[in-house]
Amino acid sequence: MIPGRTDGPLMKGNAPPLSRVSQITIAVGVGVFLGCIFGYLYPDGLFREATSRVTSAQVSSVSCNSAERVNMLKSELASLSDKHAELKKQIRDLNKKLQLAEQEKDQAQEQFLSLGVQRKAFPFGTEKGLRTNSAVLPDESVNPRLAKILEKVAVRKELIVALANSNVKEMLEVWFENIKRVGIPNYLVIALDENIESFCLSKEVPVYRRNPDEGIDSIGRIGGNHAVSGLKFRILREFLQLGYSVLLSDVDIVYLQNPFDHLFRDSDVESMSDGHNNMTAYGYNDVFDEPSMGWARYAHTMRIWVYNSGFFYIRPTTPSIELLDRVAARLSRDPTAWDQAVFNEELSFPSHPGYIGLHASRRTMDMYLFMNSKVLFKTVRKDSSLSKLKPVIVHVNYHPDKLPRMKAVVEFYVNGKQNALQSFPDGSLW
Ligand SMILES: *[C@@H]1O[C@H](CO)[C@@H](O)[C@H](O)[C@H]1NC(C)=O
Repeated sequence: MIPGRTDGPLMKGNAPPLSRVSQITIAVGVGVFLGCIFGYLYPDGLFREATSRVTSAQVSSVSCNSAERVNMLKSELASLSDKHAELKKQIRDLNKKLQLAEQEKDQAQEQFLSLGVQRKAFPFGTEKGLRTNSAVLPDESVNPRLAKILEKVAVRKELIVALANSNVKEMLEVWFENIKRVGIPNYLVIALDENIESFCLSKEVPVYRRNPDEGIDSIGRIGGNHAVSGLKFRILREFLQLGYSVLLSDVDIVYLQNPFDHLFRDSDVESMSDGHNNMTAYGYNDVFDEPSMGWARYAHTMRIWVYNSGFFYIRPTTPSIELLDRVAARLSRDPTAWDQAVFNEELSFPSHPGYIGLHASRRTMDMYLFMNSKVLFKTVRKDSSLSKLKPVIVHVNYHPDKLPRMKAVVEFYVNGKQNALQSFPDGSLW
């Protein structure tokens, strides 16, 4: 027996045990009492009420053994199993609704908690920390023109946003054609040059062109490279300040379902992962071995593959805005920094001497629904059951031949061409 898990006195009631005789007396008494009640309530016998558990053999040994009665029971059984199937379906539907309602309840509860009202701790197992921070108050004065556009484009105060210039025009077209095909109305292209703006207008794609004299875009005018690489995060900030949640999207992404049907909305940042299996995507304990330390040779480390800063959902909360500010500030200080690394460092590192951590709440998206191209080409396409599941999006982030792979993804998942993905190597061949 495992120490500490014995049936100690703590686990039992401490009243003295009843004597064996009085236990039997009570049991008999309860039996007689129940018999009287059932006899009164069901003079025809209890079995009529519980047909699903009665076999015809038992039926004949009980009082009523006519063939008629057996047939009746059989047909009742059949109709009960129909009802059973129907009930099962209803339970599934109810469970789904319950899950949604619980999500909403949790969010409401957390938002209440965020008001900072002091209270006692809840009972064991029911305590909950704060993940779902409340949204900031919208401030239209930040960018009135953008506010007007968002009023038209956003659905339930959220939308997909992508930045694009002429270098990615072909991918952008695949990007919005698939968004249109899926029927997603709430998306917006931020055109970084005139060519892309007119291209979007000609295709009836919602587009917003930065006006260099507007808002924070003095960066666009004065900025060298490093300032522009931080631009994405500066622009995003305005969306959040206006009170919108943004699903930021690179353009090397194929949309196969509406992502807004698959978000949890319980965290400041909800992001797709660069991980390729359960461990790397969702986190694991990586044991580092240093034999010279002898008895203490094993050091445990917490690891997780980075979030993909090309596809994340960000809610308009103060930690989210602080994140964008921190990333933009660091990118403008260090022109050689990689925005995805900076994004992840700010999200991950706790406070320590000389540093105050961000402590934003975060959620890793399902790696098979929000799929990176390593998962697709290394694993999913070779697995007969995984390849039958339809992702929400596929991000061709791991491969430089983006356009042909995007088109192959469309062939495979949209047009059902089973061999569309076959000709590509797992990774790029340099
Ligand atoms: C990954 O995790 C999911 C959910 O917990 C589980 O169903 C699945 O079997 C896991 N896959 C592997 C390969 O361990």
